Amino acid sequence: MRLHVADHPLITHKLTVLRDRNTPSPVFRQLTEELVTLLAYEATRSVRVSPHEIQTPITTTVGVKISEPRPLVVPILRAGLGMLDGMVKLLPSAEVGFLGMARNEETLEPTTYAERLPEDLSDRQCFVLDPMLATGGSLGAAMEFLFQRGARDVTAICLLGAPEGVAAIEKQVEGRDVTLVLGALDERLNEKGYIVPGLGDAGDRLYGTV
Ligand code: URA
Repeated sequence: MRLHVADHPLITHKLTVLRDRNTPSPVFRQLTEELVTLLAYEATRSVRVSPHEIQTPITTTVGVKISEPRPLVVPILRAGLGMLDGMVKLLPSAEVGFLGMARNEETLEPTTYAERLPEDLSDRQCFVLDPMLATGGSLGAAMEFLFQRGARDVTAICLLGAPEGVAAIEKQVEGRDVTLVLGALDERLNEKGYIVPGLGDAGDRLYGTV
């Protein structure tokens, strides 16, 4: 697994405002979108491209275009939805699939409660959106789901990660082609599974407590 933790003052500035408990939902949503666009720039560094010939007003030249099949962006519901606009702004040709993950309160295992994805992902570059990498349970389960559909090249974008979650994903995806892009790597998880210092519950801060 490749781990990339953003190191840019603009990202740190936006994350600082995002973390602030006094930042209201509309600003939180706007900042999430901006942050994802910045992280997407790094996350798409290895997006597949093919040579493409064009005519400039001066001459003929060969550039590149994003290859077919188009990359697939997969927000994990609910909070990952808040990252979608920022991602497709940078990658407008991507297709979008959806995965809803929730914890089974009896087994405590993450389960899939909704999915809308192509059956065969064997030739797809997949970009998974999940704002908070805490224990790694839901992101790990989402990746496993994509692997079962044949995905071989998966990049996850998270606003914040905890060392515990990074270690869990690293162990789970051993030997696979996986990249993890984080806005910041925080200190730890607390006893309730929240990232410290973190930003609280990302879904609630984006969408309220419904
Ligand atoms: N999910 C969140 O929304 N916040 C955390 O701190 C951990 C998991």
